[in-house]
Amino acid sequence: MISREEKELKIGQKGKVIWLTGLSGAGKTTLGILLENELFEMGYMTKVLDGDTIRKELNYNLGYSLKDREENNRRVAEISKMFVSCGIITICCFISPTEQIRNSAKSIIGEDDFIEVYINSSLEVCKQRDVKGLYTKAINGEIKYFTGISSDFDIPLAPDIEIRTDILSEDESLNKLLNFILTKVSLK
Ligand code: ADX
Repeated sequence: MISREEKELKIGQKGKVIWLTGLSGAGKTTLGILLENELFEMGYMTKVLDGDTIRKELNYNLGYSLKDREENNRRVAEISKMFVSCGIITICCFISPTEQIRNSAKSIIGEDDFIEVYINSSLEVCKQRDVKGLYTKAINGEIKYFTGISSDFDIPLAPDIEIRTDILSEDESLNKLLNFILTKVSLK
């Protein structure tokens, strides 16, 4: 078997998971994709995993009860670990609403390879923007267990970095995140 170290050496980068947590509509996937584009331009190999896509494919059989969310995030953490073992920078965009879900992802992936990013937009702003129209439906009782409305979101206690997407522009948010990743995370 070829080791992780050999693979990392070959592609000239280190595997990491950049885990974006936050409310629906906070901008996790938008920022995740922007970050991927920047890193890719700089020569890094990356993979974005996000809730909407993963739930249509790998996790099509899971819903939004706490148990299903735990399973959703557990599978994503296991998959991310596989990417990391090939040296890939994996950007995960999942609500991951509880401290327990995030901690167990961290322990599956390994503390050294897990960077927790809190994409923080206030519930008020997410509701106002309502990009996918889901908040309106949740408020009208058409969607069960909707995060922030009828299901809890635990504020991350000690994220590696917090990005206030309700205060910063898209460019500012990206720059803050990119600058953090390039200066505080060893990608090489
Ligand atoms: S998680 O809680 O299990 O981490 P995940 O990030 O995969 O959630 O999926 C969240 C996405 O599913 C949201 O962005 C939204 O588009 C959609 N969604 C559908 N129903 C719900 C719900 N009840 N709560 C939250 N998001 C929902």
